[in-house]
Amino acid sequence: MSTSNKPLSVRGRFRRLAVCCLGALAAAAGGAAFAASAAPDASAAPAAPAAGKFAGVGRAATPAEVAAWDIDVRPDFKGLPPGKGTVQAGADIWDGKCATCHGSFGESNEVFTPIAGGTTADDVKTGRVAALANNSQPQRTTLMKVSTVSTLWDYVHRAMPWDHPKSLSTDEVYSVVAYILNLGEIVPSDFELSDRNIAEVQALMPNRNGMTTDHGMWRVDGKPDTHNTACMKDCVKEVKVSSQLPDYARDAHGDIATQNRVVGPVRGADTLQPPLAGKAGEHAAALRAHAWSTVAGAGTGAAAAPAPAAAPAQAGGTGAAGASQAAPAPDLAGARIVSANTCAGCHAVDRKMVGPSYRDIAAKYKDKADAGEMLIQKVRKGGAGAWGPIPMPPNPAISDTDLKTVVDWILSGAPAAN
Ligand code: HEC
Ligand code: HEC
Repeated sequence: MSTSNKPLSVRGRFRRLAVCCLGALAAAAGGAAFAASAAPDASAAPAAPAAGKFAGVGRAATPAEVAAWDIDVRPDFKGLPPGKGTVQAGADIWDGKCATCHGSFGESNEVFTPIAGGTTADDVKTGRVAALANNSQPQRTTLMKVSTVSTLWDYVHRAMPWDHPKSLSTDEVYSVVAYILNLGEIVPSDFELSDRNIAEVQALMPNRNGMTTDHGMWRVDGKPDTHNTACMKDCVKEVKVSSQLPDYARDAHGDIATQNRVVGPVRGADTLQPPLAGKAGEHAAALRAHAWSTVAGAGTGAAAAPAPAAAPAQAGGTGAAGASQAAPAPDLAGARIVSANTCAGCHAVDRKMVGPSYRDIAAKYKDKADAGEMLIQKVRKGGAGAWGPIPMPPNPAISDTDLKTVVDWILSGAPAAN
């Protein structure tokens, strides 16, 4: 990424962004391509019951189950369901369901990935995005990179909006993709995108000629495209494999342990502390204890304290952190609910993430008697401005009872069991 701060050409509104997830589309494209060569025909009958060593295990997937998974849209548009949608309809969907994270014009906020910008009318003609070669943009946007409009359609359809994936109807996906294409000035504002004309739009994609298949990853029998030369002299005798954070990056994102689920062997160091001396394995118990101490609601629920070597692998983290608790246990139902809801993607107990920490919220409203009702409304409907420009999207999924429990828990100081 270039270090220039030049603004993108998206209607003048752009702030410099953190890159979080720009590999996503490439992965989606790769996935689609893989499915194209590997997936069986959707209409095929379910496989016969397993024989041999798997006999009696499980059952064959039904055609409906296969169909529910089989949603990939290939670059040749196989898999694309018929439908249509206008730029105008897409603008409404965008404002209601996408703009909170991706900005009114696809420029995105500080956290989420920018969608539009950086492409020109000339790129639409040539099919190569000039800015990718001359690094004239501060950040690569989706429209700069994506080569196939099918990938954009597929990705929005399967993964967006992030907080409610697969909630858009087919026509809504057409509409919102039309709107994104219009933001990039690839189609006019009175355009209607449909399965009938999407191939013509492909011929306008700014980076349509920017994808290469001329490398080893593309063919099973291909060669890797690295150009290392074998060391023949004074070579390192023993290769040391290590995984470490450079010092300058160590606390760049707070305590990394709080950002990992307490699952599997990876515990995550406490990056607010200096690096541990010696081998990570020697500190396993301490790392594990620290990891558990970051889980809101740990120590609650029916689960007894896990033996140190066998912390339960639950994403929600309802296991216990320590052996015994002396003080009367605080009411942690709210902690369990936020862990089980999408709230946890944006909020932590004692640290700012996308949104403010629960404890900061508690502190801010501690003298306001009517804060509870206001916060319930705010979480339900979403909104911005109380903590900064990044909006919270609406949260329609959480029940009224759970929402009240959560807000009461936050206002009581967001107690965790540690
Ligand atoms: C709650 C925040 C949020 C909302 C709302 C949201 N997105 Fe996203 N979007 C994201 C995140 C986060 C990513 C990256 C995801 C990843 O890498 O797994 C993303 C990625 C994308 C990408 C791919 C970007 C790239 O280049 O990799 C597209 C396209 C996109 N979103 C479109 C939409 C559309 C259309 C909507 C509305 C229907 C929407 N998003 C709503 C958070 C959001
Ligand atoms: C996509 C990210 C995201 C998700 C998901 C999310 N929030 Fe937020 N939340 C935010 C942001 C950003 C703010 C700050 C909004 C502002 O400045 O007005 C916020 C603010 C809040 C506030 C304080 C509101 C105020 O006006 O002071 C509460 C309480 C809250 N969130 C609770 C929740 C709960 C409970 C959930 C889950 C049901 C949740 N949030 C889901 C991002 C999110």
